[in-house]
Amino acid sequence: MSNIAIYPGTFDPITNGHGDIVARAARIFDHVIVAVAASTAKNTAFSTDERVDLAQRILGEHKNVEVRRFEGLLAHFVRDCGAKAVLRGLRAVSDFEYEFQLAGMNKRLVPEADTIFMPTTEHYSYISSSLIREIASLGGDVTEFVHPLVCEALNERLGKRAAHKK
Ligand code: COA
Repeated sequence: MSNIAIYPGTFDPITNGHGDIVARAARIFDHVIVAVAASTAKNTAFSTDERVDLAQRILGEHKNVEVRRFEGLLAHFVRDCGAKAVLRGLRAVSDFEYEFQLAGMNKRLVPEADTIFMPTTEHYSYISSSLIREIASLGGDVTEFVHPLVCEALNERLGKRAAHKK
């Protein structure tokens, strides 16, 4: 039976930090589903379709990785996929409290699945999607933190120059 992990998030936009978690997870699990949340309290810069499309194009090299959108409760999506693992990246101790709460609630809602935490690679530990958007919108260089396709999308969306490395 295939060992499926769900990696959920808003991915607004996907960063190299997310990509790093996915690449490592793809070596551990048979199948990784990157689950892009459609219903989110966050005021996203990119639509769900755009967030899915970017993630699909960037993660396409991994044969056992699939990108899907999900609506509503993560627990329902996890159950529908028949997954036994929910994967979350931990960047810093400050992430832990929220993640612990999320893991506990999801365990209650879908007892057959467990949350697996993966520490973020050190040099990605300070990245967040909102910081990337802010830097890009102010003309800063984000090429170190996101895929060129994301740079391009940020450039178009935020109407400012996401500077390219010389
Ligand atoms: N590298 C870089 N950045 C990372 C990262 C990593 N490895 N891991 C997390 N981040 C950043 C994200 O970019 C994001 O930044 P932002 O807040 O600036 O946008 C932040 O950390 C939060 O991570 P994210 O993965 O986007 O999670 P989230 O908290 O936005 O989403 C969901 C959490 C979507 C999984 C959760 O809200 C959910 O399950 N929603 C569905 C509804 C539901 O089931 N609710 C009940 C839950 S019990």
